[in-house]
Amino acid sequence: MKTMLVTLIFTMGLVSTAFSAEKDQDLLNKGKAVYEKSCVSCHSYGPPPKTAPPIIGLSQHYREAFNDREKAIAHMVDFMKTPSKEKSVLLPIGLERWGLMIPMNLSDEELYAVSYWIWEVYPKELQRKPLK
Ligand code: HEC
Repeated sequence: MKTMLVTLIFTMGLVSTAFSAEKDQDLLNKGKAVYEKSCVSCHSYGPPPKTAPPIIGLSQHYREAFNDREKAIAHMVDFMKTPSKEKSVLLPIGLERWGLMIPMNLSDEELYAVSYWIWEVYPKELQRKPLK
């Protein structure tokens, strides 16, 4: 029984390594759920905006500012805990327009998931819905 369990865990490890370049659908679902619970009141998904930049625009700004997903996510997580002008990847004119975001009181896990979702929604959605 123990051997079977060890083999199973080992196989799962191999499978997840093999697919690590793929998107993690569970994490995407989790991130989307966090968005719907804690962010949608201010951030619409796409235009028209509510009281903050739409998610698709944020995703674009982060894609322009970072070429590494993990670095972008780490930056977003940190920003959401303690937002500041200095950390923002938006243009100064954007910050003036919207005002600074309030800190999010969420777990690291939730912040990671929602940041992952924001990063990953970009390419696919833009192909279908160009910004202009
Ligand atoms: C009370 C309204 C409000 C809520 C709720 C809110 N935001 Fe924001 N958010 C803003 C505003 C306003 C800005 C634009 C100014 C700025 O960047 O601080 C912003 C900016 C951002 C940015 C860009 C940061 C940067 O580099 O400037 C990210 C990423 C972000 N929000 C993610 C989220 C996520 C994820 C949630 C939910 C967990 C969330 N926000 C909830 C108002 C909100």
